[in-house]
Formats: sequence, C-alpha cells, structure tokens
Amino acid sequence: MARPQRDDEFDLRVDTLAFGGTGVGRHDGFVVFAADTAPGDLARVRVRKSRRRFAEADLVEVREAGPDRVVPPCPYVGACGGCRLQHIDYPATLRAKREHIRDHLERIGHLERIEVRTVDPAVSQFGYRNKMEYSAAPGPDGELRLGFHRRGRWDEVVDIDPCLLASAIGNAARQTVRAWAVRHGVAPYDQRAQRGTLRHVVVREGVATGELLVTVVTAPGAEPVVDELVAPMRAAHPELVGLLHGVNDGVSEVTQGLPTRILWGRDYYFEEVLGVRLALSSQSFFQTNTQMTGHLYTRVAEAAGLDGSQVVYDLFCGVGSIGLTIAARAREVIAVEIVPEAAADAARNAAANGMTRYRVLTGDVGRVVREQRETLPKADVAIIDPPRGGLSGRAIRRVLDLAPEVLVYVSCHPATFADNAARFVAAGYDLEYVQPVDMFPNTPHVEAVARFVRDEARVAAARAAAEAAGTRLGALPGGA
Ligand SMILES: C[S@@+](CC[C@H](N)C(=O)[O-])C[C@H]1O[C@@H](n2cnc3c(N)ncnc32)[C@H](O)[C@@H]1O
Repeated sequence: MARPQRDDEFDLRVDTLAFGGTGVGRHDGFVVFAADTAPGDLARVRVRKSRRRFAEADLVEVREAGPDRVVPPCPYVGACGGCRLQHIDYPATLRAKREHIRDHLERIGHLERIEVRTVDPAVSQFGYRNKMEYSAAPGPDGELRLGFHRRGRWDEVVDIDPCLLASAIGNAARQTVRAWAVRHGVAPYDQRAQRGTLRHVVVREGVATGELLVTVVTAPGAEPVVDELVAPMRAAHPELVGLLHGVNDGVSEVTQGLPTRILWGRDYYFEEVLGVRLALSSQSFFQTNTQMTGHLYTRVAEAAGLDGSQVVYDLFCGVGSIGLTIAARAREVIAVEIVPEAAADAARNAAANGMTRYRVLTGDVGRVVREQRETLPKADVAIIDPPRGGLSGRAIRRVLDLAPEVLVYVSCHPATFADNAARFVAAGYDLEYVQPVDMFPNTPHVEAVARFVRDEARVAAARAAAEAAGTRLGALPGGA
C-alpha cells in the first residue's frame, strides 16, 4: 500500500461520506478524504496533505458522477466554507447524517445496536437561517468583501450575494450595510495587518414575527460613520426593530460579548415557537432554523413523556424556549443558563407568557445546581441542550446528582454526544433511542434528540463499582 505524496494526482472511487462532508475512498488501499466528492463518484483528485494513515485531497474533476451527485445551486460552493453538502441529493445527506450519529456512538461511545431513527427532514433546504454572521475583509485591491471565510482560510473572505441559506430580508440587510460602507469609504478590517474598520455584520430575524435586528461590528473609533447607517437601514427595512453597534478592539474574530450600543430601536427582537412568544436579545443563543425549532421541541416533549406531574429541569436553556414550550405539560420547570442576558430573556419570556411554575437559575450547570440544591425540587426529567463541546465531567456529575428518571439530550455534535452518552450509560441510564432532526440542510451539521431512562439496579451497581474503583459516577470504565 503506497502512501500518496502531496500533489499526487489519481482517480479515486468514492465509497462513503465522512463526517464533515468530505467523500472517502481508497487509493491502493490507502484512505483518501476528498473534498467536494460524492459517494459513487469517480473523481480525479490531487493530494493536499499526506498523513501517516490517510491523505486529504482536493477535487480536480468529476470523471463519473455518483448516483447522489446534483448540481449545487449556489455559485460560491467550493470557495465558501459554509455549505459542504450542496452537491449531494438531499435524501442522501439525511442517510449520511444518520450513519454519522450511529458511527460516532459505536466508535467513540462503544455503544452498539442503539436505535438511531431516520432523520426528520427539514421543511426548507434553503433560506432557512434566521441568523447570519458575515465577515468583512479586503480583496486584492483593498475593496470590500462581505461574506464568509474562504474554505480553510482565516484571513480571506469570499464576497457573497446572495447567500442561499439566508432569507431575502437577511440578504437585503447585508447589502444595505455593504452599500453604506462603500458610499462612506468604510475600510474592511484586514486581519493580517490588523487595520481597517468594518469587521462583521450580524443579521437576526424573527421568522414568525417578521422582526429584524442588525448588529454592525467595527474596530474602535467608527462611531460617526456608523451613525450614518441608521437612515438607510430604516429606509430600506421597515421590519427593522433594532440597529446595534459592537466594538471589537481585539484580534479574535468575535461578535458576542463586545461593548455594544443601540444606534436605533431596541437590542432584542421577538420570535414565536409553538405558540410561545420569545424575546431574544442580541447576546442570546437561539436555534438558527426557526421553521424546524417547533418540530425539534415537539420531539423533545415526546422523548420527555410529560403528563403534567413531572418536575422538569431545562439545562442550558438559552432564552428558555424548550422549557417554555413544554411548561403547560409540567408541574414545574427549573431552567439553567450561563449567559446573563439569555437567562434574563428566559425569565422575561416566562413572565410575558404568564408562566408561574417556572424558575431560572443563572450560572454554570456544573456549579449552580449544586450550590442551590437545598432549594431545588427533585427532578423527574432533565433536558440537556449543551453547546457543541457537550457536557463537562462536572456538569455530567451534576445531572447524575439530580437523578432524573428520564434524561432528554439534545445534541448538535455527534462526537461529544457519543462521549456523554457513554458516560450516562455507564452510570446506569439506558439509551432508548436517538431521533435526528435536520436543522442544517446543505451542511454536515446534525441535531438529534436522545431519550435515556434511569435503571435503578444499574445505577446502584455503577455507584458500587465506582466506589470500589475510587472513581466517580459518570466516569467511563478505565477511569476516563
Ligand atoms: C445549544 S444552546 C441551547 C439553548 C436552548 N436550549 C435552545 O433550544 O435555544 C446552549 C446554551 O447553553 C448555554 N451554556 C453554555 N455553557 C453553559 C454552562 N456551562 N452552563 C449553563 N449554560 C451554558 C449557552 O449560553 C446557550 O444558551
């Protein structure tokens, strides 16, 4: 088996789709990951990186298209780092996402024969995103580029118009900011030279309410020219409810947690999910696909099996959306969120929707549940919806301390989910099923709702084994 070298070119028959959206095949028995290929393709590829056990290659030419290959509608595919699956037929992407979850559970979690259900498809494959973060950077002649990072590049941006994942309103808002920047000679920020003004544009929309909230992020000192954006934004976008200005004086490309002023209107907007009206402030997380959020939460409620008698913990609650949409079927909801603005949104949303059996704790799931345990009721159900990094060891122990009968895990990352799932299983929970939901068409991301049920006998055995081994409940066999 000869290991291919950098710049080697050869024909590759693509067998499967790897997590991340690249095709995988074998060249003389050696594993090759090839970007932009599809299962069944015979593709001419060029090696970009050769590693000990596999090579990474770029597509040169499709010699024979596989059965799932389609023509991507977006002209920026290949250059833009956003969509990785637009060249593959939608049902085939769903099959691949399901396999990725199963594969991660087996390889990382060592959990075999788990029921991973077919992926619930998205209502729309395009125009579904309610939040877009555009980056600004100079082109070769210093001209403004406003779009997304070129694939694999931190310092280069592909100028996009339109983005097919954004709505018409979202695309139009970006173009209004672009026109203002060009008219006033606002220089895009150059990451390499750390010079320039315009850094990011964040567009958020309440899909059900039609409200638009736009944040422009610049380097310091741009206040007078940014003030000039109010009039054109208001004129072009009657749906605008707030225009914000964030200032980033650091090197990292962030849009959250910056000093931010309101240029016009308010710093939050409204969205509606399953009949619950939600205020979302600019710093708060919200699911990026509103159309599918109601469906996702319906799957969560189903997995929770609520009958009105249970105390439900909504951990990593964001603006409270899961807990609030199920509160009518729970005895009480205790919500936990670390971002103060989001926790405040959750409390405000509960009050505005007339929910009284609802409490929000602001802080880290790994700490706050223990700190306040004297005042907290026994948990019947815990819903866990962590960020991509999953639960820390401490957060897992706090969930196990709560000892809910049913655990519903909402995952946006199969690898961390598989690791966390293995820990809950090792601690005595049975993983009954995983229901994937496609919130992110055309991208390799996949959301999933998993139902775990506590098995008292297994919990007792796991606790005894942990005590005997001097480890903690939730550790994996071998102590990890
Ligand atoms: C994937 S979002 C889910 C939000 C919400 N459940 C929803 O459906 O919109 C994860 C949330 O967890 C919060 N978070 C992250 N780390 C946390 C921690 N250690 N403790 C509590 N909340 C945390 C984030 O701020 C974010 O709001």
